[in-house]
Amino acid sequence: MLINQIEDFIRDIQLASVGKSSDKAAEIEQFRIKYLGKKGVISDLFEQFKTVPNEQKKEIGQALNRLKTAAQAKIEEFKQSIDSIEQKSDSMDLTMPTDYSEIGSRHVLSVVMNEIIDIFSRIGFTVAESVEIEDDWHLFSALNFPHDHPARDMQDTFFVEKEEGKQEVALRTHTSSVQVRVMENNKPPIRIIAPGRVFRNEAISARAHCIFHQVEALYVDKKVSFADLKQTLLYFAKEMFGEKTQIRLRPSYFPFTEPSAEMDISCNICGGKGCNICKGTGWLEILGCGMVDPNVLDACGIDSKEYSGFALGMGVERMAMLKYQIRDLRLYFENDLRFLRQFDALV
Ligand code: DAH
Repeated sequence: MLINQIEDFIRDIQLASVGKSSDKAAEIEQFRIKYLGKKGVISDLFEQFKTVPNEQKKEIGQALNRLKTAAQAKIEEFKQSIDSIEQKSDSMDLTMPTDYSEIGSRHVLSVVMNEIIDIFSRIGFTVAESVEIEDDWHLFSALNFPHDHPARDMQDTFFVEKEEGKQEVALRTHTSSVQVRVMENNKPPIRIIAPGRVFRNEAISARAHCIFHQVEALYVDKKVSFADLKQTLLYFAKEMFGEKTQIRLRPSYFPFTEPSAEMDISCNICGGKGCNICKGTGWLEILGCGMVDPNVLDACGIDSKEYSGFALGMGVERMAMLKYQIRDLRLYFENDLRFLRQFDALV
């Protein structure tokens, strides 16, 4: 039946697509010739239409017209799809360099912190981390702080909770609290390094900040001596600041170590001759250290008659300042790219 043939052609046209070959224009032309060409499908059907009985002429005539419109519309559609592809490739310059994408780099504090961790891990220390919001026991009491110690004062410490009769909770003021947590939960030998953020109620200036970073080291075992501490300090100072670095220990006081000391290194800027960084002394103060006070060991459940240990703690900002001659603490936290980019090359 002619009418069925026409309907089949219409369906074929609707489903037709181009793009089987790389030459789309040629495919479209083929399509046009097949349906609309002089000897094409439609002209052939119009020939046959002449012999259609009168009562069917209306129906078949309308179907033929729909077929013709469908073929023309499809050709239009094909042409437009080519145009839009061409337009796209016209506006694309494939030789253009790509957008410069900024690759982030590590913050100088992370670099220095990682370096310290690395140095200690080479002699068997492993990283221990703990909470930043701490209770009074881990921050002060277990560390042998007397009840009237100034660190327990609101002036120096950010308290989260400080109510009569309640456990006091504060932002940790030092990473020494991690020592307590580790000793409570582990048996010697203990050899840990605890890096982390600490908080103090200080006015922000070039030399002080309310947030900074510390690294703490703790070694507890049988027969750990002050000589072990000194040798570890010397190794650390040379690895961190160079082979020529010398160290000097000055007696000091910390509640949680006995004896306590502060370590200076020979000024790595002037080589010990005296300059404005070391204020003419030739020495730079680096860290606090000492033998773990027996009271601390006992408070943490380690028998101080059997075990001894040493501890040390240092400020990461200060290390970075001395290593890279950074003069103002605030620079670390301001995220000024002109500052941060100077350390791009560090890993
Ligand atoms: N916790 C001390 C501070 O924040 C630093 C410190 C000194 C840590 C001596 C120690 C140490 O482990 O033995 O100033």
